[in-house]
Amino acid sequence: MSIVVTAASGHFGRAVVESLLARGADPASLVATSRRPEALADLVERGVDVRRADYSDPASLRRALEGAEKVLLVSGTEFGQRVAQHTAVIEAAVEAGASLVAYTSAPYAATTSLALAAEHAATEQVLLDAPVAAVLLRNAWYVENYTGQVETYLEHGLVGATGDGRVSVALRREYAEAAATVLLTDGHAGTTYELGGEAVTLAEIAAAVSEATGREVAHHDVTVPELEQVLLGAGLPEPAAQTYADVDRGIAAGELQVPADDLTRLLGRAPLPLRDAVREALSA
Ligand SMILES: NC(=O)c1ccc[n+]([C@@H]2O[C@H](COP(=O)([O-])OP(=O)(O)OC[C@H]3O[C@@H](n4cnc5c(N)ncnc54)[C@H](OP(=O)(O)O)[C@@H]3O)[C@@H](O)[C@H]2O)c1
Repeated sequence: MSIVVTAASGHFGRAVVESLLARGADPASLVATSRRPEALADLVERGVDVRRADYSDPASLRRALEGAEKVLLVSGTEFGQRVAQHTAVIEAAVEAGASLVAYTSAPYAATTSLALAAEHAATEQVLLDAPVAAVLLRNAWYVENYTGQVETYLEHGLVGATGDGRVSVALRREYAEAAATVLLTDGHAGTTYELGGEAVTLAEIAAAVSEATGREVAHHDVTVPELEQVLLGAGLPEPAAQTYADVDRGIAAGELQVPADDLTRLLGRAPLPLRDAVREALSA
């Protein structure tokens, strides 16, 4: 029986596998799946069972999840297809006789007005209706969502439409460590975790990036329609521009602010404060 981590070729899934190994999980008990198993060749060398799985290919999922005891379903990236894809993973986990499926969701997925969360809410419902114990890992924002755009910020400033709203941020590896705790320890079945670190404004993020880089990053607060135009002007397709502008509307409304208690409990320590998290993300 094994622990299966899907999307292990992605930043988050990889960090979960690394955290499981760092905590002494037997590599032979771990299955890491990807559409691109060749990207996980180093894990094969370390004794991890790497299997090919495409969320859009149920036969590949059945093969990849064979023998699974616990499954971490990492949400996919193909907007509009994700409910069907995630449903296929959940069905394969049930067919494999898994005892637990944990799913990476979004803050307050079942009740939020955030457009981005609709597929997460639908997936949560499929999982809750499935004959398997569920854990909902409602990850708030990665700090890397911001530090990954530092070049743009240095050129144009950090443009947002959040007003005084706060967004809970933590390092991707901290959310990954929390997921590893859920996979390695008992007592999580049926739990919904609202996970996030320090709740910060975009102005505070701009200040933290300025401090870490030694270069001034201005913060420009605009309206949601103005942000959408900025994103369109930067070349984003209309649906993406609408979705990202809607995220800022959600932040302004407090929909991405969660208490740090759940992440603190799963980590066994407080998540890093913003300035340290930004520094670590930028040095990675
Ligand atoms: N909370 C946040 O701030 C935040 C931010 C960004 C994303 N997310 C969500 O969290 C997830 C993990 O984040 P991340 O940073 O690891 O993203 P990432 O680095 O972009 O990785 C995405 C992963 O999803 C896999 N994937 C996509 N479509 C798939 C499919 N049809 N079948 C199998 N695997 C598929 C990719 O596999 P391949 O290598 O085969 O492409 C990759 O491993 C994302 O997929 C997204 O749903 C959350």
